[in-house]
Amino acid sequence: MDRTFLMIKPDGVQRGLVGEIIARFEQKGLKMVAGKFETLPEDRVMEHYAEHTEKPFFAGLKAYITSGPCFLMVWEGKDIVSITRQMIGATNPAEAAPGTIRGDYAMEIGMNVIHGSDSDETAAREIGIHFAPEEITSYTRIDEAFLY
Ligand code: TYD
Ligand code: MG
Repeated sequence: MDRTFLMIKPDGVQRGLVGEIIARFEQKGLKMVAGKFETLPEDRVMEHYAEHTEKPFFAGLKAYITSGPCFLMVWEGKDIVSITRQMIGATNPAEAAPGTIRGDYAMEIGMNVIHGSDSDETAAREIGIHFAPEEITSYTRIDEAFLY
């Protein structure tokens, strides 16, 4: 099954949005197979955002993402990367459609509530950065026969 890495950022945790966000993905039919709170250490932030370390916004991004605990998750489902990117919405919440997580809950690009991997390759890389294989569970949802 396809996998992705999703992470509720410190603003989402501190605003009490963890349950609401998990519920959206669960109700869609996706399956959470790992989850944990963690305040990201600097080395993992550098690795996770390697493509952005030279960008002008990176200093602010690093300060924000390490400002408190994130909720890190691995999810499974068919075509999960494109489905979750659509459910998360545009990077800039001002451009994110209503009904998306960023469209419904965020105001600023610098505090956009959630991260989601943008390709299958990125997902595999990000899961490897943040989770050990033994932290990822395996189970059957009782409604899987009605989802696929
Ligand atoms: P990016 O990978 O482009 O967006 P996404 O999270 O949708 O994959 O950028 C990573 C994060 O960096 C983004 O979620 C918020 C932050 N960011 C800024 O603060 N300012 C910016 O101009 C951009 C492009 C991103
Ligand atoms: Mg990205």
